[in-house]
Amino acid sequence: MEEYAFLQQFCKEKHIKSVLEFGPGTSTLAFLDAGCDVVSIEENWKWFQVAQRTLMLPNCTLLLGAPPAIMDHPRIAASSFDLAFVDGPGAKGPLPRLHSMQAAMSRASIVILHDANRAGEQATITEVTKNGGWEVIKQKSRRGIGILLRQSGAAVVHGERPSL
Ligand SMILES: C[S@@+](CC[C@H](N)C(=O)[O-])C[C@H]1O[C@@H](n2cnc3c(N)ncnc32)[C@H](O)[C@@H]1O
Repeated sequence: MEEYAFLQQFCKEKHIKSVLEFGPGTSTLAFLDAGCDVVSIEENWKWFQVAQRTLMLPNCTLLLGAPPAIMDHPRIAASSFDLAFVDGPGAKGPLPRLHSMQAAMSRASIVILHDANRAGEQATITEVTKNGGWEVIKQKSRRGIGILLRQSGAAVVHGERPSL
């Protein structure tokens, strides 16, 4: 199944109403089309301007910044989300998007990491789940979709700054 169709179907099946997204783009439209409220974070000023031109839509909030600092933003700080989708900032280093994943896991019980076919993203998933408390599901797709589900009994501490 095409990736954004999968995200739309996933949101409908899981009754996802609120999404925290790292890296806006076509995925943002998929979540909006699925009827979700989306808060999307972009760290790059150039791409933030592009997002402002194309994604200034009802139920969509665009924020300029990057984790961990952006997690103190009033729109996020005391909020939890049904789903966090991690597709930014641009992937680099041996554990790409580690800060985004840690921030995402502090605000949502369902976290999706895009580009999960890549070795770096797989290493990131291994790192963030090494202490347990999360089930990991790999959804086959062109770029790979890693789905992390918080296990019942593992607490969400809202407003907690992710340890980096
Ligand atoms: C892959 S983009 C996010 C795409 C979006 N989630 C989607 O699925 O359409 C991840 C990050 O890479 C950067 N980036 C690099 N090239 C980009 C491009 N051509 N369009 C948008 N963002 C780009 C931006 O900073 C962005 O947040």
